[in-house]
Amino acid sequence: MIKKVKVEQLEPGIFVHDFNCEWRENSLRVDQLMIKDRRIIDILSSMGVQEVYIDTDRGRDVRDAKSAFEVKREVDKALHSMAKNGTTPAATVSFTEELQVAKNIKKQATTVMAKAMEDVRQGKALETEGTYVLIDKMNESISRNKDALLLLTKIRNKDEYTLMHSVSVGAYILNFCNANQIPHRRTMDLAIGAMFHDLGKTLVPLTILNKPGKLVESELEVMRRHPEYSAKILRSTEGLPAESYDIGLHHHERFDGNGYPHGLKGDKITFGSQLAAIADVFDALTSDRCYKKGIDRVAGLRKLYEWSEFHFNKELTYQFIRSIGVYPIGACVKLESERIGVVIGSTDDVLRPVVRVFYDDRKKNPVPVYDLDLSHSDDGVQGYEDPLKWQVQREKLFDDVQASFF
Ligand SMILES: [Fe+2]
Ligand SMILES: [Fe+2]
Repeated sequence: MIKKVKVEQLEPGIFVHDFNCEWRENSLRVDQLMIKDRRIIDILSSMGVQEVYIDTDRGRDVRDAKSAFEVKREVDKALHSMAKNGTTPAATVSFTEELQVAKNIKKQATTVMAKAMEDVRQGKALETEGTYVLIDKMNESISRNKDALLLLTKIRNKDEYTLMHSVSVGAYILNFCNANQIPHRRTMDLAIGAMFHDLGKTLVPLTILNKPGKLVESELEVMRRHPEYSAKILRSTEGLPAESYDIGLHHHERFDGNGYPHGLKGDKITFGSQLAAIADVFDALTSDRCYKKGIDRVAGLRKLYEWSEFHFNKELTYQFIRSIGVYPIGACVKLESERIGVVIGSTDDVLRPVVRVFYDDRKKNPVPVYDLDLSHSDDGVQGYEDPLKWQVQREKLFDDVQASFF
């Protein structure tokens, strides 16, 4: 059985199934391990890891630890009630309609960000005007319909990971600001910092940046210099707000002091950097990398929730989760009527998305596929379902939505 335990509960003879530490980028060289002696426990503590998942079928048990299933159920319940307490602004145009505009914005973003990165690589001054124009367009798109651009930036080819990651983090910040009515000027300051937060990576050798495996310690050391590089570039660029280079410098700091480069704790980290840290980790988790596949967005939200206990500002994480919506497009859900479906759109009620229904679990029978707008229905979401269990991908339920991405 998979169980979640505190690092202090670990003992030799326990098998670690998942170090649960992707809140640190590229942190450990192995994914699973049998604990042979206390050395690894000390390493985990020194890294700031608080909780891990163990496999009791492959090693010793920890009696009163919660099972992964129980943890998941608790987190899902918390996410559901979190959504009840929040509102997100209603979309003013449909997802499909906005997707056409968002596609052009994505294209423009690729050009603008590639130029910014190339300029830095060549030691030229960073030109910010084009990025500000781009951010404005992204902001408008998100306020019309947040899902189009947020989903579109997930689709990226391998070599444009860093580029699209920056755009995606920018889009999440804009979405957060839009959901929380942050004034326009402040929104722009935060977004430009988010767009440029990883510019320092341009100065990290490509062999390290795009390495298709885990980095060794010396490579990690080089990689961990990128926030300082980012800050240096942004500080020397005329007209950028102080908050932007702070985001460059401190987006890898963690709320409990276990981040880098300065190990800042709590409110010693600025609001912008706390927020960028959450968006940065969420995007990294849910996007495909050169060495691993991204997890689905619901799984990503669960992880943010779990880690907010230690590594992020808790309230801010909750606000961030609400801004995305706990039933994002692509989430597989069970309805109160026991029917199973996939979320294909949001409505102005965060708890009542549009669901494509394909199975009746009460009758244990597939049903002819139909779309149900829960904001106009007595039915509601009961909880999440595992998309793998229902073979959502193989059922091609989502094809028309996905096909419109390209
Ligand atoms: Fe970074
Ligand atoms: Fe990043």
